[in-house]
Amino acid sequence: MSRFAHITGWGTATPKRVLTNEELAQLVDTSDEWIVSRTGIHARYIADQDETTASLAAEAACRALAPTNIEAHDLDLIIVATSSPEHIFPATACLVQDEIGAINAGAFDLSAACTGFIFALNMAAQAIRTGSIDNALVIGSETLSRLVNWEDRTTCILFGDGAGAFVLQGSDRPGGIYTCVMRSDGSGGDLLSLPAGGSKIPTSIKTVEQNLHTIQMNGREVFRFATRVMASATREVVESAGWTIEQVDRVIPHQANLRIIEAAARGLRMPMDKFVVNLEKYGNTSTASIPLAACEAVERGMVKAGDRVVLVGFGAGLTWGALSLEWVEPERKVSPLVRRRRRVFAFLARVRSFLRRIQRKLEGLIWGTSTHPDR
Ligand code: UT7
Repeated sequence: MSRFAHITGWGTATPKRVLTNEELAQLVDTSDEWIVSRTGIHARYIADQDETTASLAAEAACRALAPTNIEAHDLDLIIVATSSPEHIFPATACLVQDEIGAINAGAFDLSAACTGFIFALNMAAQAIRTGSIDNALVIGSETLSRLVNWEDRTTCILFGDGAGAFVLQGSDRPGGIYTCVMRSDGSGGDLLSLPAGGSKIPTSIKTVEQNLHTIQMNGREVFRFATRVMASATREVVESAGWTIEQVDRVIPHQANLRIIEAAARGLRMPMDKFVVNLEKYGNTSTASIPLAACEAVERGMVKAGDRVVLVGFGAGLTWGALSLEWVEPERKVSPLVRRRRRVFAFLARVRSFLRRIQRKLEGLIWGTSTHPDR
């Protein structure tokens, strides 16, 4: 019997603070008029000190899990797609796993820049379709504001912070995630990069002085690449799903620049009203942009049961990709008792995490920290 991967829960999280174009114009030599006409962006969310990639991801994850019929401990897999992980390691996904109490889940980060959420969804859906797992949580989460050079007007106007999450569950009912196109071209890696802080160029006073720990971008070249691949990837994924372009009800594109989305629509000869656009409020939130737009589209009734939907994105790497899915309305009957039980579980997850840390310390004291046989 065929198995399908359905999206049964979705949720988002955004920082409290909003930064408008007018406020940005007081920081760098720019204007609301320039930013709106060149990008379509009016504002973006910026994380405060206490808001991090993991905390936003965990918040979005809890919202996505809330209406489903599973608990965090039923999750088999957590993938966090991110370009601004909390650390190089441990994976941000492991921090989320601990925070939400997903004690039976394997967790890892996926690095494919803004295309990451599409790649991660495909990985999770494939694992469900093969029968190797039942339940997965896929998150796109970013605090790119921490990686931006706030004196570089060509990049700091673009990016914002936020997170979006999908819960995927196996089902015998047709629908859910169908096909995916995943592409990359490392020869364009230098067009959009964060050069320092990795193993090739470790952080030093020199790298900080030269701003190599912040986002470097050739905007015009990325723009050219994006307009080309958004249309071609959409065409390819539509064909692989056995659909025609006319049969697509909704396209949810990566929210980088309104002009890029309009160029894709023109290239595909599709009306703009089939495209979900919300970048005016969020800016470019990299891996979070597609789930943020998807969640908003569902809440606004722009995506309904039976709709044929394409997600399409591009980003650093270079990477690009598209994913086809048929939206299935999940059964959502969560009793007040289950909601109360969830609150208890959330509390217990924190207690468990605390006790595990104490246990590890005690084990260290009792057995010693050295594993050397002679000591
Ligand atoms: O997730 C992927 C992330 N990256 C992207 O999606 C980036 C894709 N690229 C873009 O969205 C666009 O290339 C930008 C929005 C970054 C730039 O727009 P553009 O229409 O390609 O502008 P441009 O780079 O050709 O610059 C035009 C002019 C330049 O002045 P001159 O040389 O013509 O005198 C820039 O110096 O605009 C100037 N400029 C600005 N002016 C006011 C560049 N940034 C700004 C600014 N405010 N913030």
